[in-house]
This record gives sequence, structure tokens and C-alpha cells, in this order.
Amino acid sequence: MPERRARLAVLLSGRGSNFVALAEACEKSELPAEIVLVLSNVEGAPGIASAQRMGLPTAVVTHRGLSRRQHETAVLAELERASPDWICLAGYMRMLSPTFVARFEERIVNIHPSLLPAFPGLSVHEQVLEHGVKVSGCTVHLVDGGLDSGPIVVQRVVEVDDGETVESLASKVLEQEHSAYKQALRRLITERWAVNGRRLEFGPRGCS
Ligand code: GRF
Repeated sequence: MPERRARLAVLLSGRGSNFVALAEACEKSELPAEIVLVLSNVEGAPGIASAQRMGLPTAVVTHRGLSRRQHETAVLAELERASPDWICLAGYMRMLSPTFVARFEERIVNIHPSLLPAFPGLSVHEQVLEHGVKVSGCTVHLVDGGLDSGPIVVQRVVEVDDGETVESLASKVLEQEHSAYKQALRRLITERWAVNGRRLEFGPRGCS
């Protein structure tokens, strides 16, 4: 019998290149998963247009004019309908409340364009260059309610070269993001793992 595919909901606010990388990985069966919902808080987000072109279910739940609680309630209603196993944040520019995170405990994944715990938050590449650090990269992690915190699943490293610009660094990191995200999800879906303190540990003792 074919293995059950994991149900992914992707939340995004913009371009959606990480979403497209995940969708392509699902299509090519590189990831034993299917995308059951692509949801954005931004009307006209390019990622939603890409999802529509791919024939995937989409929803736009604008946060404009709503309190955080009202917005999350509306997002949760969409998610309950889609019944995902995993929520994948892919450039979703909203903090999630502790209630939301608790509802999907250890089932929300985020990608961030730095080697966390360094440089959480926004304007990451600008900060990397300002600090003159020599390596940067990206991190896929479980979401725990903090800002870009939560147990790390996969990291990828890129070198910060002399003369690097925000654009050149962003592009190098993004290329790594696209493969890191699918690798992280593949491991989360197919392997046994457990969270031990701050750490996520893969292995036979894992409980997933
Ligand atoms: C990525 O750099 C991701 O790490 C960050 O937001 C950006 C989203 O890019 N969280 P895209 O919309 O997936 O192209």
C-alpha cells in the first residue's frame, strides 16, 4: 500500500519561492507530502498566484482591520478545514500567538535566512554584513512561540565573501533555503525524533 503522504499547509506573505520549492519537491515525490493549503495574510501575494497556477488550494486572510486574535481565529478556521499535519511558514510575516503555537505543538516549521540563534528578526543580511561575520546561512526550525527560536532541524552554511552585497548574500542563502526546507521536512516526516530541551534529536530514541 502506498505510504500516506503528510498534509502540508504553507503560510506566506510574499514571493513564495520557498513554497514553490516545497511544492515541486512534493510533485517529484522528493518529499512524501502534499500541499493541502497555501494561505497568505497579504492580498496579491505573488506566492498565492504561484499556488493558483499550480492548481493548489489557496486562501487569503487579510490581517487588515482585524485584531491579532481575530486574524488568528480566521486563519485557524481555514487550517482546521484543510486539516494539515504540518504548518510550514515560508516568509510569513506575522508572529504567532502562544495559543496558536500550542494548537499545533511541534508541528509548525519555519525557515529563517541566518544561522540561528544569530540574527533573528528582520534585515538579517544587512546585519550580517554590518557585523562582518564570515559565514552565514539558513535555519529550518520548529516554532515555539519566540522570535525565530525553537529547536533547529537543519542548517546550511554559506561563506560571506569580500565585497558581498545584501543582494548577493540573499541569493546565495535563498538557494540553500530551498533545499534545506525540503530536507528538514523530509527528516521530520520520515524519521523518529524528539525535542530534548532546546534540541531536536533524530534517532532511534525519538518519539515521533
Ligand atoms: C526567506 O528568506 C525566508 O528565509 C524568510 O523570508 C524569505 C521568504 O522568501 N523567512 P520566499 O517568499 O520564500 O521567496
